[in-house]
Amino acid sequence: MKDLEHCRNIIDDCDKELVTIFERRLKAVLGVLEYKKEKKLPIFQPEREQDVLKKVNSYLEDDELSSALESLYRQILKISRKLQSKYLFPYNIILIGFMGSGKTSVGKELSTLLEMDYIDTDELIIKNSGLSIDQIFNTYGEIGFRKLEKEVIEGLQDNKNTIISCGGGVVLDSENIDLLKNNGRLIWLKASPLETYNRLLGDTSRPLLKNNFTIKKLTNLLNSRLALYEYASDIIVDTDGKSIQDIAREIVEKLLGPNI
Ligand code: S3P
Repeated sequence: MKDLEHCRNIIDDCDKELVTIFERRLKAVLGVLEYKKEKKLPIFQPEREQDVLKKVNSYLEDDELSSALESLYRQILKISRKLQSKYLFPYNIILIGFMGSGKTSVGKELSTLLEMDYIDTDELIIKNSGLSIDQIFNTYGEIGFRKLEKEVIEGLQDNKNTIISCGGGVVLDSENIDLLKNNGRLIWLKASPLETYNRLLGDTSRPLLKNNFTIKKLTNLLNSRLALYEYASDIIVDTDGKSIQDIAREIVEKLLGPNI
């Protein structure tokens, strides 16, 4: 009994020290953020995270604890990134663009890079209705789908510091755009008809492109929306020929200013 108490006392002392050090570390992280912002240096540097992991491992006396230490530090690094993102992006980062423009993949990449929550409006529509997008279009038509889409957009008014990937037709209703702009920056992921066509070939999940999927049909629909995407967007990112990672990095750079 005495041993148990003795060990628990040691743990309590360690926790006290850990909390103090954790607070000191997080304050230093914010200090680095301020410095980088002022000097317009890159904020998120994955190479630096690798260095930290290597360095802390070299301080370890018992090699058996190496993987436990690595998990702890991966978590600490995530927490640091999340804290930085909260300061840098107190608003939502909202991805708009045509079907196949990469909103979902880029959104997930941004969410990992910035440790921000991720929401996909189509996924929310599916969750709320209990139906697939295809079933909604078949049962209630496009008008019914747009109603559900709008309800989802209205429900996002209290969100902040979140990556939101929107369905391609969200721009068709200007009230959606006004609502999204209330607490977010809109990024248009722009892609050419040919690149979009190649990305969507073989895809059967989009009701609007399901029958007679031709480049002509796609181009007509895309062209009919170009002005809406342009009008809605705060930032435009050309995606043709770029990797998901490059697009995500470009978005961060554009949101933070020209030199960061
Ligand atoms: C639509 C795009 C789809 C989905 C629905 C309608 C559109 O989302 O919301 O099929 O009108 O462009 P993605 O852009 O994510 O494919």
